[in-house]
Amino acid sequence: MNIHEIYTPAILLNLDYMEHNLKKYCDAAAAHGKQIWPMIKTHKSTELARLQTECGCTGFLCGTLDEAEAMAADGAKNVMYAYPVATDTSIVRVIKLAQMCNFIIRIDDLDAAGAIDAAAAQAGVKVNYTIIVDSGLHRFGVKPEKVLEFAEEMKRFQNLVFKGISTHPGHVYGAACEADVPKYCEDERKSVALAADALRNAGYALEIVSSGSTPTFWGALDDENIQIYHPGNYIFNDAIQLSTNTATEDECALYVLASVISHPSEDLYICDAGAKCLGLDQGAHGNTSIKGFGVVKGHPELTVYSLSEEVGKFHVEGKTDLKVGDKVLIIPNHSCSTANLTSYYVGVRGEEVERLIPVDIRGNSTKKNI
Ligand SMILES: Cc1ncc(COP(=O)(O)O)c(C=O)c1O
Repeated sequence: MNIHEIYTPAILLNLDYMEHNLKKYCDAAAAHGKQIWPMIKTHKSTELARLQTECGCTGFLCGTLDEAEAMAADGAKNVMYAYPVATDTSIVRVIKLAQMCNFIIRIDDLDAAGAIDAAAAQAGVKVNYTIIVDSGLHRFGVKPEKVLEFAEEMKRFQNLVFKGISTHPGHVYGAACEADVPKYCEDERKSVALAADALRNAGYALEIVSSGSTPTFWGALDDENIQIYHPGNYIFNDAIQLSTNTATEDECALYVLASVISHPSEDLYICDAGAKCLGLDQGAHGNTSIKGFGVVKGHPELTVYSLSEEVGKFHVEGKTDLKVGDKVLIIPNHSCSTANLTSYYVGVRGEEVERLIPVDIRGNSTKKNI
């Protein structure tokens, strides 16, 4: 089937571009003797996680416990949960996961640690953890200079097993251009070094030193401390990665196929893909370099300047050959958000549809305890 025969809007995944991305990052990591445990909240798909393993990824970082459970059930050996766990309902799931695989949680709070420790004691299991280091995002984590003190406090929890440190330099998404990225890599490397040195000097063995984001991957790959990298967005890339030159257009693998349905005035075209496909995301953590709500492939004269739920508006600057009835491909600003708005990706090679790939680990699609 040709993509022009597909009902629109549809979320397409260019399999060639995606496979290129997976191989590019895994090959680079292997050349540096490093591991990739990709963040899978980007794609939320068991099938794509398996492809990542085939490419050489040796574990997974998960953005939800649903994802962690799906990975453990699928036989993954190393599964890490990215965010703190604090409630009884989540701790029950953590205890089960700890019995299924090499499961690692991240901790930045002593009260939460105490609650997990008590549940682990009751279940007779040990729970592995890393300490979250704040490398500049100021979202979670312990300041690098306080990590040793925090680790010492954690020693009182007999059922929690210290494995090392983790961070995410997500403030890189405040970068407006390529030249801005190195300073975020510096933050990442310096914070990790500060925490790792303090811990090692105090006699701690660091089995895991993990960090990562797609934009900082290349500038942090030769870091002497970081051994495990957690890029997520790299599998698809998007307009935000284009804005910092982290990816080329041919490395943006996920796009929205839309039909042009109206041309009410000279400089205005309207398509049938709106916020429910493209998302309203204009960049996390303060990115100001993004114009509109996506990049229309092959049409630099168009800006997706406004979205309502099912409809998008293109503003034309200069000349365009666009006609009502045409189909266009739009690279979303943030592919992770777009991916979360579909139940399956239409996997394509060029213009031919190859297969549908289920997005089977989306939030609220696994209401296990209701
Ligand atoms: C904790 C954590 N690690 C890694 C990532 C992956 O970052 P990126 O999507 O830039 O590759 C994310 C994404 O938000 C994250 O929250």
